Amino acid sequence: MTEAHCSRTRRRLLLGGAVAAGAWAIAPRGALIGLARAQTREHRLIAQPGEAPLLGPSGPKVPIWGYNGRVPGPELRVRQGERLRVTVENRLNEETTVHWHGVRVPNAMDGVPHLTQKPIAPGERFTYEFEAPDAGTYWYHPHQRSYEQVDRGLYGALIVEEPAPIRVDRDVTWILDDWRLTREGRVSETFGNMRDVAHNGRIGNTITINGVFFDEFALHGGERIRLRLINAANARIFGLEFADHRPIVIALDGQPVTPHAPPNGRVVLGPAMRCDLILDAVGRPGHRYVVRDMFYKTMAYELLSFTYSNKPLRAKPPESPIELPRNRLREPDVARAQTHRIHFQGGMIGDLTGATLNGRPLDMRQMMQSGKAWAVNGVVASGHTPEPMLTLTRDRSYVLALHNDTAWHHPMHLHGHSFRVIRRNGRPTPYREWQDTVLLSPDENVEVAFVADNPGDWMFHCHILEHQEGGMMNVIRVT
Ligand code: C2O
Ligand code: CU
Repeated sequence: MTEAHCSRTRRRLLLGGAVAAGAWAIAPRGALIGLARAQTREHRLIAQPGEAPLLGPSGPKVPIWGYNGRVPGPELRVRQGERLRVTVENRLNEETTVHWHGVRVPNAMDGVPHLTQKPIAPGERFTYEFEAPDAGTYWYHPHQRSYEQVDRGLYGALIVEEPAPIRVDRDVTWILDDWRLTREGRVSETFGNMRDVAHNGRIGNTITINGVFFDEFALHGGERIRLRLINAANARIFGLEFADHRPIVIALDGQPVTPHAPPNGRVVLGPAMRCDLILDAVGRPGHRYVVRDMFYKTMAYELLSFTYSNKPLRAKPPESPIELPRNRLREPDVARAQTHRIHFQGGMIGDLTGATLNGRPLDMRQMMQSGKAWAVNGVVASGHTPEPMLTLTRDRSYVLALHNDTAWHHPMHLHGHSFRVIRRNGRPTPYREWQDTVLLSPDENVEVAFVADNPGDWMFHCHILEHQEGGMMNVIRVT
């Protein structure tokens, strides 16, 4: 059903060149000229219903919820070290908040309902203000009933520019998302159903990039693109293969990483994760190259084609440096760090027999009756204010040893910090990459290390939003 629906609604839409740059790749730069340090950038976001051409410009408009009525919301851009002040107005019929995913904000600006702020009631506003400490690719989304609010289209990119950005011909953002559309072309209202909660989440049937379905992206021979990928889907993991192109990963979750080719040529991005690529247009004039998403073996599909005009921009891509300057993250002292083990259990095909919900032991069946299917160290979360699972001492180093004891993938996200991914199944990782969301495969053990340098109560949860709702969430306190 999935693929049939996809191709039935396939529309041709050319995006690239001037259109792409003008319409969505580059934010107005005029606003950034001549600024002093610590300048404040002001924005207004209105969370409200709207309509979007998800199926392409000639397709029917689909009712969505979006910031300023659009999906994605505006791409916010600041320079590293600048302050951002964003007034959010809620014109939905329910409470909302905004979380600045991956940005190391002060706790009160983190946008977690009841934990860090009172949710924004319909008709009300809240002003978020914080400095952007790290350059890189981030995004924003609600944290209130995220499995519905994010799914309906409330999200946008937040780009923090390096003081001296690397040289590229185009800086392009692709926010990937999938939608579960009905035959009538509306967003299916089966949010948070138990099947999605206990399996791999709400996988959609229509893929969009920046809120539209498009199947061609124009490249000019010899050009160099910085491609910022953001996975805004509730549940879909992307595994992108770029045909004869060899993109180089230069940042993960906003944080610079040693430039490297992705393993097996495949860029794997779980929900909420980001990846910055250097994409050199090395294809032949007049040719087309199909980009595929190969993550789910039974659901592989063609995301789009790169198309080349007959006139290259230059003979070959530039050879200027692509390594990004590191952000100022504190280096964990792994040798002396205290280790905490975190055990994830639950879901279908698992062996979880029961866990504690609101202090009461429940068996799996009672859990499912309460809409829950997952446990973290034996505890099922309900709401955003559980007793903290861990209390960490400020400025100390910690290792979290994560054990995925389930049959499913889980992108685990920690608020307020970035961590180094140091080991997978006991083996050191090649780049010790900084991430804020780490994808665990079924049965995998992953160790992450960080300095708990940001005081407050921070969510630690699965970013498959149906899993989060189904109990896969907890709080880590830093005091
Ligand atoms: Cu992107 Cu707790 O979220
Ligand atoms: Cu999960």
